[in-house]
Amino acid sequence: MSASGQSGLPSEVLVVDVSPRDGLQNEASPVSTYAKFDLVRALSAAGVRRIEATSFVSPKAVPQMADAADVMAKIERRPGTDYAVLVPNERGLERALEAKADIVNIVVVATESFSLRNVNMSVADSMEQARRVAAGAAAAGTRRSAVLGASFHCPFEGAVPEDRVLDLVGQFVDSGFIEVTLADTIGAADPAHVARLGQVVSQRYPSVELGIHLHDTRGLGLANAYAAVTNGYIRLESSLAGIGGCPFAPGATGNACTEDLVFMLESMGIATGISLPALIEAARAMPAVVGHGISSRMVAAGPRSVVSLPG
Ligand code: COA
Ligand code: ZN
Repeated sequence: MSASGQSGLPSEVLVVDVSPRDGLQNEASPVSTYAKFDLVRALSAAGVRRIEATSFVSPKAVPQMADAADVMAKIERRPGTDYAVLVPNERGLERALEAKADIVNIVVVATESFSLRNVNMSVADSMEQARRVAAGAAAAGTRRSAVLGASFHCPFEGAVPEDRVLDLVGQFVDSGFIEVTLADTIGAADPAHVARLGQVVSQRYPSVELGIHLHDTRGLGLANAYAAVTNGYIRLESSLAGIGGCPFAPGATGNACTEDLVFMLESMGIATGISLPALIEAARAMPAVVGHGISSRMVAAGPRSVVSLPG
């Protein structure tokens, strides 16, 4: 990624759409496997280069992801698109490798109380799983990526101390991860916090390829995305139509909306490789898939257009 001219903005970023996983895991009514691979196909066709297609977690913990193996078996793989999956443990890695996932995302949550609720493990035990997943994926020649859940705020413990984030990122680095994504799981980060954490992590661990997982729970999703692209983050995670949330975090509603994010980035001259009209078309289908309304601004307003005056 290179900076473009005097603006201090990168010339491109990687937008990762997580709607088939983070988006759908929180839905109350079941979503069919067919609708899931249709969603993945639409995202691929729009030019999204990395899609978090599903998660290999306990079906008791997240019933919406029980069909993960089927989803991975049926999706059409588009050359140039990476199909990533989220795993919480070594069992998840085994299933991910069987399913031939391109990238395995392992999640560790930054605080003890949230970690127990999310994966029924202490942070140290969860980090040990991450270490084993990294080693197992490396041995299988599969790419791996680390996600630090609740990097900014925890729903049970409040603001997460920077030192703890730095320490946990360091443990990821020691386990061989190059990609680390800081997750604003409950959508409580603000742009100054995003900027500060980006700067301190990049200073301490310059080799880390930093990403951010964005939620729009409190309306700061795009402001945080702007802070991210100006402070060293090179991957941004969002959901088509802004669907999503975490079943283990009270009040954690929608992800930042992918089409709104792409509109902002492309308008600023930051290339994403994604077709905005194709994304909007895909987002229009989402209310029928999830059975409720969506928060997409691009679906409501459309991209910028010039209206011809009569006469
Ligand atoms: N995929 C499928 N099944 C799994 C699994 C995985 N990755 N890991 C464990 N299991 C199964 C076990 O085989 C066991 O099955 P059984 O009851 O039929 O014997 C059952 O789940 C319990 O296993 P255990 O190791 O005791 O796990 P647990 O009950 O302590 O739960 C997790 C731990 C990590 C599996 C569970 O909390 C989980 O899947 N969390 C994911 C949460 C999530 O997705 N959050 C959102 C994303 S951050
Ligand atoms: Zn999320």
